[in-house]
Amino acid sequence: MQQAGPSATAILGLGVYRPERVVTNDEICEVLDSSDEWIQTRSGIRSRRYAADGESLLDMAAVAAQRALAVAGVDAADLGTVIVATSTHVQHTPAAAPVLADRLGSRAAAFDVSAGCAGFCHALSVASDLVRGGNARYVLVVGVERLSTFMDPTDRGTAFIFADGAGAVVVGGADEPGIGPVAWGSDGSQSHVITQSMRCDELDAEHPLVVQMEGTQVFRWAPFAMADVARDAVARAGLTLDDLDVFVPHQANLRITETLARNLKLPESVAIARDVQESGNTSAASVPLAIEAMVRSGEAKEGDTALLIAFGAGLSYAGQVVAIPPVAGV
Ligand SMILES: CC(C)(COP(=O)(O)OP(=O)(O)OC[C@H]1O[C@@H](n2cnc3c(N)ncnc32)[C@H](O)[C@@H]1OP(=O)(O)O)[C@@H](O)C(=O)NCCC(=O)NCCS
Repeated sequence: MQQAGPSATAILGLGVYRPERVVTNDEICEVLDSSDEWIQTRSGIRSRRYAADGESLLDMAAVAAQRALAVAGVDAADLGTVIVATSTHVQHTPAAAPVLADRLGSRAAAFDVSAGCAGFCHALSVASDLVRGGNARYVLVVGVERLSTFMDPTDRGTAFIFADGAGAVVVGGADEPGIGPVAWGSDGSQSHVITQSMRCDELDAEHPLVVQMEGTQVFRWAPFAMADVARDAVARAGLTLDDLDVFVPHQANLRITETLARNLKLPESVAIARDVQESGNTSAASVPLAIEAMVRSGEAKEGDTALLIAFGAGLSYAGQVVAIPPVAGV
């Protein structure tokens, strides 16, 4: 029996897709009983983007994927696996990944990961292990959501938070380690805190599968539990917090990010992702979108050491240290 794979892996390229349509808090408040000031104070969100009518999850995923492949210099035909992390693919079957692979011109093994807002970091870990195990030369990971379709626009706890977008990376072998070991887990005893299930009681044709969230519970859990996970991910990579250049937590809301960074006592030199202000919470797409925003603004650069950490429905969480990859269009 043989097992052959490279000893190290890295993210070879990253590409994103942000829908054109910018939605302000004032526009949200045309339907929602809230205000721009309340939303900014409680979540940090100033605006977010929604997909256009007729712009599908797969349309967004395909653009991000093509950009990631181009910057990585990898041909779609050479992909060994395609993994899509999403909670907003409209069909249970088939998964989004095989359809995406076909669009890209790939016949790779393809499957979806459902881990809510933590999906991208789960999929990244699986991708790295697939490459290291010799099961795929290159793996495409796409985090993509079209949450605007799955929200009740009158729900004060969710309507201003969630948004649309896509981020993709190509993972492959590398001379130097560029993806650290994952720190991950779940707490299913809190599975009721964030849900997306059929409303059997009030069959709503337009929004049959809405996201519901006990926001205060999320706030009580994430900034504290994720500090331990962050320390664990850094230790597993053989590093300390002082070795970090960049911190990219899931862009849930700015108050969670800032409380988490405070709890971690991050050195002041570490740049912190704040893409939630312009992008809202794009769930499985938020981490790659936030990386792209930081590289575009100059807060992060290729080769920087970054701690990623994602958390959400499940409750599920995953984090790892990575080297910032080349980013398409920057
Ligand atoms: C959703 C969230 C912003 C709500 O903030 P909160 O401070 O917990 O809000 P509460 O539900 O306790 O309500 C506080 C007050 O604001 C009011 N309020 C709630 N939602 C409101 C809204 N959208 N607009 C205006 N007022 C609102 C409530 O009525 C309440 O008023 P009262 O004090 O007069 O009774 C907050 O819980 C949060 O950020 N949670 C984390 C959610 C998240 O990031 N999820 C991502 C999952 S991956």
